[in-house]
Amino acid sequence: MWKMREGKVSKSEEEEKGEAEYHSKDFDWEDLRADVENHPSFVHHFQFHIQSSSSSCSSSSQPDSDAWKRFHIRHSSGKFFKERRYLLKEFPELVSCKEENCKVLEVGCGNGSTVLPILRGNETAVVYACDCSSETLARAKEIVDASNVIASEQRFRPFYCDFPVTGFPSWLACNRCRGPSLRVQHTCVSDAGVNDNKAGSEDSYSLKESGCCIGGVDFVALIFTLSAIPHRQMPVAIKECFSVLKPGGLLLFRDYGLYDMTMFRFDPEQRVGPREYMRSDGTLSYFFCLDTVRDLFVGAGFIELELDYCCINSVNHRNGKSMRRVWVHGKFQKHV
Ligand SMILES: C[S@@+](CC[C@H](N)C(=O)[O-])C[C@H]1O[C@@H](n2cnc3c(N)ncnc32)[C@H](O)[C@@H]1O
Repeated sequence: MWKMREGKVSKSEEEEKGEAEYHSKDFDWEDLRADVENHPSFVHHFQFHIQSSSSSCSSSSQPDSDAWKRFHIRHSSGKFFKERRYLLKEFPELVSCKEENCKVLEVGCGNGSTVLPILRGNETAVVYACDCSSETLARAKEIVDASNVIASEQRFRPFYCDFPVTGFPSWLACNRCRGPSLRVQHTCVSDAGVNDNKAGSEDSYSLKESGCCIGGVDFVALIFTLSAIPHRQMPVAIKECFSVLKPGGLLLFRDYGLYDMTMFRFDPEQRVGPREYMRSDGTLSYFFCLDTVRDLFVGAGFIELELDYCCINSVNHRNGKSMRRVWVHGKFQKHV
């Protein structure tokens, strides 16, 4: 995960924590809320007036995902890659999944920080991973190929997709699979093969057999990706995730929480909507409260299993300062 300040990008404190240090309740979120809402210098974060020049609605003809494409071209060294080792502790179902060749879709995979621990932790899982940037998909593939993960060629399947705009490709789940009839497993083949296209191009996978799709996935991982798309696109993006999950499948969510310290680094003019900010490179960041997450996921048809703030005091080893970080952890299920 990346922490982005104006002109500066570095690994977030969360990523610098080792597995052994992982914990999630250093402070109470309500105490933090009381502190920040009574702090005069943060007032502009709570008052929002719609301004024509700074709306999260795309003001140009450029797709919203273009800023992320440019971001990945600028940061092509891959040095911000850091494996999310805490992931399997937060989401142990990824390891305990009893399905043969359990299928995981990582949405907005970046350089593969989330993909790699899944491939390592579950040696039969197949990870489909999309992003709106071909550059980052190619880098993720290099990183996975260079790792010692078993059968990575067969088990890591990157593909290009601007998912809130185009939806997921039909080879992942055809129209029939996406409807209520998914619970009746019809004739769709249960596996996809790689064709000769380069990683990261659209339709990178074709079906080996004449079936219509792979039949949906057991898990969708949305890890620091929902905050990266415009708030207005979130409902349709989550519905799309819902539609490609198998009945009983899980959506695993982790993202920035309201009043995370990085929110207070934004200037008033960078605010493009309530709790939504645009960095000077055009990429977006949204800070979620639990009610917003609940409304979005339950509104899309999910059942809430887990939803909470993860509150961590992170000490900057360079200057000794303690920072209060907030993330939202969520687990949602599609009805069986
Ligand atoms: C903050 S990064 C998170 C990366 C990764 N999930 C992880 O765990 O580190 C957000 C990712 O979402 C991708 N993204 C942003 N908008 C997207 C879109 N419309 N469609 C697909 N991916 C998108 C970005 O390119 C970026 O790689």
